[in-house]
Amino acid sequence: MVTSEHSGLILGIESSCDETSAAVVRGGREVLSNVVASQLVHADYGGVVPELASREHLRAIVPVVREAMRAAGFEYRDLDGIAVTEGPGLAGALLVGITFAKAVAFAAEKPLIAVNHLEGHIHAVLMEAAKKFAEVSPLLALVVSGGHTHLYLAERAAEGAWSYRNVGKTLDDAAGEAYDKVAKLLGLPYPGGPWMDALAAHGDPNAVPFSFAQIKQKRSGRVPVKLARDRITQQDGVRFDLSFSGIKTAVRRYVELGQMRARIAAREDALRAADVFTAKPSDENARAEALRRLDGPTLDLIASFQASVTGYLTRTTMAAAEHFGAQGIVVSGGVAANRELRRRMTDSAAQCGLPIAFPSIGLSTDNAAMIAAAAWAKLAAGQFAEDTLEPTPQLRLG
Ligand code: KG4
Ligand code: ZN
Repeated sequence: MVTSEHSGLILGIESSCDETSAAVVRGGREVLSNVVASQLVHADYGGVVPELASREHLRAIVPVVREAMRAAGFEYRDLDGIAVTEGPGLAGALLVGITFAKAVAFAAEKPLIAVNHLEGHIHAVLMEAAKKFAEVSPLLALVVSGGHTHLYLAERAAEGAWSYRNVGKTLDDAAGEAYDKVAKLLGLPYPGGPWMDALAAHGDPNAVPFSFAQIKQKRSGRVPVKLARDRITQQDGVRFDLSFSGIKTAVRRYVELGQMRARIAAREDALRAADVFTAKPSDENARAEALRRLDGPTLDLIASFQASVTGYLTRTTMAAAEHFGAQGIVVSGGVAANRELRRRMTDSAAQCGLPIAFPSIGLSTDNAAMIAAAAWAKLAAGQFAEDTLEPTPQLRLG
């Protein structure tokens, strides 16, 4: 059995969506390598095409794992375990990572550890903020990405292990999905979240008054303002669910009323011709080209959308933290890279006197380091996967 004194060298493999990733992490924290191959084939389709994703994983998995092992400087025989994402995610995509992990575990005679992708996202923060949260529990964790928008109450259990209770989730689109759909509607490249984030600074966030009447917020109970730590163990039924379909519809209506469609189509053609669709917003030239093509009303719309969504996420997270007496906040997932969300969350947490942590930008989006980190406590506890492990596309956490 692996104990806390043991190094716990884990190879993590992640293939739940459109990133093929492998990482070697020691002791649940020390990232020795983290190789991420992002699939560019989906850019032309404005969303992930499952069949293409599986094929791309199949092409990338061997070189990505080989590179992760090489960069870490270890052989398979040095490992203490192989961790792999079990779900949630695309069945065919998960299958590639699981099959490969099983083969390595079998050949190298190492234990196989199944990891929930959502727990992985939370560990992307915990592994970096271990000192900050050493004595802090429970935490309120917002996992916000292209596939998920969940709020969890996370309580420290055994060493390195946490238990989770889902206290809120989106009732329709994930926040990242809303970003991507609105970006597509405005003729911007995929994935649209980082583009919207980069462009929002150039518009007026108060120009379009999106109200939260447009974003239905369902709660099955009253939200008390008093901190009540003992509520954590109570199943009081109060939830902090979210909805992003209203604001998406509001943007579509705004575009139609403003007769913006023709200009958007022309802009999309121009950006494709200028190769902006295959670039990232971190590319200065691509960003400058996009900015040159965008008019004032569209930039205002982008800024207002960003202010509205990040404000909504922040308010809901802080209300949940207050209700459940959380002692700290964790924000993770692709949308956690959003600058405005980081700013608002940091300000609100400071006002409430709560410590808050985000993953470094590289660990915000899907990666295998977070999977290997989440596997460490399972390795220490001897929680290994069966030989019959298969993908669970709808796997839940808490
Ligand atoms: O965690 P992730 O890599 O994959 C999923 O599990 O979904 O998240 C990808 C999502 C995409 O929807 C992308 O648009 C969004 O995260 N995203 C952002 C930003 N960076 C990535 N959304 C808003 N602002 C960003 N800076
Ligand atoms: Zn993810």
